[in-house]
Amino acid sequence: MNGVLPVPATAAAIAAAAARLRDGELVVFPTETVYGLGADATSERAIAAIFAAKGRPRFNPLIVHVADIDAAGAIAEVDDRARLLAARFWPGPLTLVLPRRSDAMISRLVSAGLDTIAVRAPNHPVAQALLRAAALPVAAPSANLSGQLSPTRAEHVAAGALAWRVAMILDGGPCPVGVESTVIDMRGPTAALLRPGGVPAEAIAAVVGTLAGTAMAKGAAPPSPGMLSRHYAPSRPLRLNATAAGPGEALLAFGPDAPADAAFNLSPRGDLREAAANLFAMLHRLDRPGVAAIAVMAVPEAGLGRAINDRLRRAAASGDDDDFDRGPAAPCILPDLEDGPS
Ligand code: TXA
Ligand code: MG
Repeated sequence: MNGVLPVPATAAAIAAAAARLRDGELVVFPTETVYGLGADATSERAIAAIFAAKGRPRFNPLIVHVADIDAAGAIAEVDDRARLLAARFWPGPLTLVLPRRSDAMISRLVSAGLDTIAVRAPNHPVAQALLRAAALPVAAPSANLSGQLSPTRAEHVAAGALAWRVAMILDGGPCPVGVESTVIDMRGPTAALLRPGGVPAEAIAAVVGTLAGTAMAKGAAPPSPGMLSRHYAPSRPLRLNATAAGPGEALLAFGPDAPADAAFNLSPRGDLREAAANLFAMLHRLDRPGVAAIAVMAVPEAGLGRAINDRLRRAAASGDDDDFDRGPAAPCILPDLEDGPS
């Protein structure tokens, strides 16, 4: 027995996928960052199906995908600062957390009961065509089971359990950016980085002046409910800042000085863009029998390196980390607390 097989994202396939979305079904589609598990953001039932399919805790809200700034303005309060960032980085790997418009026709489950909404306009021709054909705001988390590695190729989705739970998988080839969008909280007087991602934090700071960091006190409710320590994880242990592979380990190298026995090199020339694009696909390939653990060389903590290191640190966090099994600690402003990572 098989799950749904990926179909090439032709115009006809995109039209069929749009119809499935309008019927409240789940569709996997490519974005420039990772593959998304999409559903009609206005349908409570369709959104509930996303949480069920992923095994995602309901306190972790979803990003709503729109074609452009006008569509964002129909569901969220877009102020001048947000408009400036959107003008500079949309369509692209930037998600803005904005106040939800009181008349927004968006499922409450999407934003986990918060009065905010996370929106982004993806920069991928298939995602753009799908959003325009469906003429709906589309909620889409990464198309992986909760806590697992994000998919950057249609095959990653087809190989997993989600393939049994969706109506269609649109294949648009490898995702060019390879790490998820940067998430910025735009509500306070200072914009705050909630998740490093495909737009370097430095580039955002250059537009808005200062960007508050993410320092998260242990035990405090995370500002972004998705900021659970363990996340994006292969099933094998991951060792950071390695310089060589230990016994049973496969080495994921970075840069020109890699040992000759490295399994893969994120970027032999030390290019962070190339490394981000390769990150999840290489982790997927190393997460296999015969590999006891994955050792990863250090990646510089700047630009896209921040997003790469964020994903690697979360993947390496031990399973009994306090956030992993219990979710954010009290006091928790979010309803319907369940166990587990996103
Ligand atoms: O690149 C991406 O962003 C991909 C592609 C598919 O667009 N999507 C993605 O979604 O990574 P997901 O669900 O894996 O991550 C969404 C992140 C989580 O960390 C979540 O907590 C945060 O965005 N988020 C969503 N809505 C929020 C809100 N209202 N306030 C704060 N954080 C929010
Ligand atoms: Mg995800």
